[in-house]
Amino acid sequence: MEKINVQTPSGKLGVLIVGLNGAVSSTFIAGTYAVRKNLSKPIGSVTQMATIRLGQRNENRFPKIKDVVPLSGLDQIVFGGWDIQDENVYDSIVRAEVLQHRDFEPLRAELMKLRPMKAVFDQDYVKRLHGTHVKTGATKWDLMEQLRKDIRDFKAANQCERLVMIWCGSTEIFLPMGEIHSDLAKFEQAMKDNHADIAPSMIYAYAALAEKIPYINGAPNLTVDMPAMLQYADKQNVPVCGKDFKTGQTMMKTVLAPMFKTRMLGLSGWFSTNILGNRDGEVLDDPGSFKTKEESKLSVIDTILQPELYPELYDDIYHKVRINYYPPRKDEKEAWDNIDIFGWMGYPMQLKINFLCRDSILAAPLCLDLVLLADLAQRCGFKGIQHWLSFYFKSPMHEMNQHPEHDLFIQSVKMKNTLRMIINEKPIDFLDETIDLFR
Ligand SMILES: NC(=O)c1ccc[n+]([C@@H]2O[C@H](COP(=O)([O-])OP(=O)(O)OC[C@H]3O[C@@H](n4cnc5c(N)ncnc54)[C@H](O)[C@@H]3O)[C@@H](O)[C@H]2O)c1
Repeated sequence: MEKINVQTPSGKLGVLIVGLNGAVSSTFIAGTYAVRKNLSKPIGSVTQMATIRLGQRNENRFPKIKDVVPLSGLDQIVFGGWDIQDENVYDSIVRAEVLQHRDFEPLRAELMKLRPMKAVFDQDYVKRLHGTHVKTGATKWDLMEQLRKDIRDFKAANQCERLVMIWCGSTEIFLPMGEIHSDLAKFEQAMKDNHADIAPSMIYAYAALAEKIPYINGAPNLTVDMPAMLQYADKQNVPVCGKDFKTGQTMMKTVLAPMFKTRMLGLSGWFSTNILGNRDGEVLDDPGSFKTKEESKLSVIDTILQPELYPELYDDIYHKVRINYYPPRKDEKEAWDNIDIFGWMGYPMQLKINFLCRDSILAAPLCLDLVLLADLAQRCGFKGIQHWLSFYFKSPMHEMNQHPEHDLFIQSVKMKNTLRMIINEKPIDFLDETIDLFR
C-alpha cells in the first residue's frame, strides 16, 4: 500500500461560505462557535464524534476519528464568505428561526462581526431572490477576478494558512451540460463572452480553483460537475466534491433501497413529498430551481436498484418527488414517503415514513465534516473528484463512465477506509473470521 504523506494542519483554516447568511450556513457557524466554547456537542458530525476501528476485531482499537486523523481543530477555523444582502450573521440567525435565542445569544459578539462580501449574483439563475449586495463587472471573467481578490484579501487579513470554499447558496435553475462545459479553454472563453450557460456558482468555483482552494458543492447545481472544471481541478491539483448535501429524505432512500435489494424484495412505487417553509423552500417553489433538485433526488433509486440487472424486481418503478413551499413550517420540514414493495410470490406490502426533521440542523454537521475533510484531502495531495466523500451527497460526483455509489453504508466504509489509508492503517475488508475458518 502506498504511503500517503499528509501535511500537518498548522495555522488557521479559512472557511469561505457562498451564501454566508443562509439558514444552513448560519446554523453551521453558530454550532461551530458553540462547540468551540463548550456550550454544545457536535452531534451529527462524523469527524468529531465517530470512532474508527483500526486493525483486527479482536484488537479492540476504536479511537475517535478526530484523535487519530490529522484534521484541523475547530479553534483553527475562521469564517468568511459572500451573500446578496448585507447583514451580519447574528441577524441572519434571528431571521432564519432555526435556533433558539438561548443557543445563539452567548455567541452574539462573534456572530455580529461576521458580514458577507458582495456576491456574484444574477436573478436569471435564482428567480425568487433579489440581491442588493452584489458585484458589478463587464464580464463574468471580471467578476471571477473580483472574487479572486476577495479570497486573497481575506486570507491575508485573517492570516490563514489554508482555505476551503463551500457552496451553501441557493439552488440555481437547471442547466444541462453544454458545449462550453466540455472543455476548459471553451469555458474560459465563455466567461469572457458572458455566455448564459455560466451560472454564478461556476464563477465562484472557478475562482476557488484558480486560487488552489478545494471546492465543496452543497447544492445540486452543475458547477464543478463537468469536464471543463475537472480539467482545471486536475491542472491546479485541487480536490472538489458534491453535489447536494444528503440530509433527510434522500438519506432514508439510500438506506432503505439497498435493504430491499440486498433481500431481493421488489419495488413498484415510491412517492415522496415534503412541506418546507424556509427560504430554500421558497427558492425551490420556482420550477427552474425545483428541476435541478428533482434531478438530484430522482437519480438515487435507479442507480441503487440496477433495474437492468434485476428486471423482475425493479424495471417498473413509479418514483415521484414533490417539494411544496409551506411557510408556517419554516425550517422544520416534514417529509412523507409511501413505498410499495413486493415479496415472496409477488405479494404487495407498504412502508410509510413520516420524517419530521429540521433541515439546517441536519445539514450543519455535514458542512463541518466536509470543510475539514476537503482540507485534509488537499493536505494529502488528493485532487479532482473526492469519491470517498460521496457519503455526504445526494448526487455524488463520479466519472462519466462510472455509476455513482449511493448506498450510505458502502459510502461510509469507503470513507473510513480512505481515512485508514491516510493514517497508514490497513483498510478493513471484514474477512477476519472468514479467514479463521481456513486456519
Ligand atoms: N438544509 C438541507 O437539508 C439541505 C440539503 C441539501 C442541500 N441543501 C442546499 O443548501 C443550500 C442552502 O440551503 P439553505 O436552507 O441555507 O437556503 P437559504 O435560502 O437559507 O440560504 C441560501 C443563501 O444563499 C444566498 N445566495 C444565493 N445565491 C447567492 C450567490 N450567487 N452568491 C452568494 N450568496 C447567494 C442567499 O441569499 C441565502 O442567504 C440550498 O441550495 C439547498 O438546496 C440544503
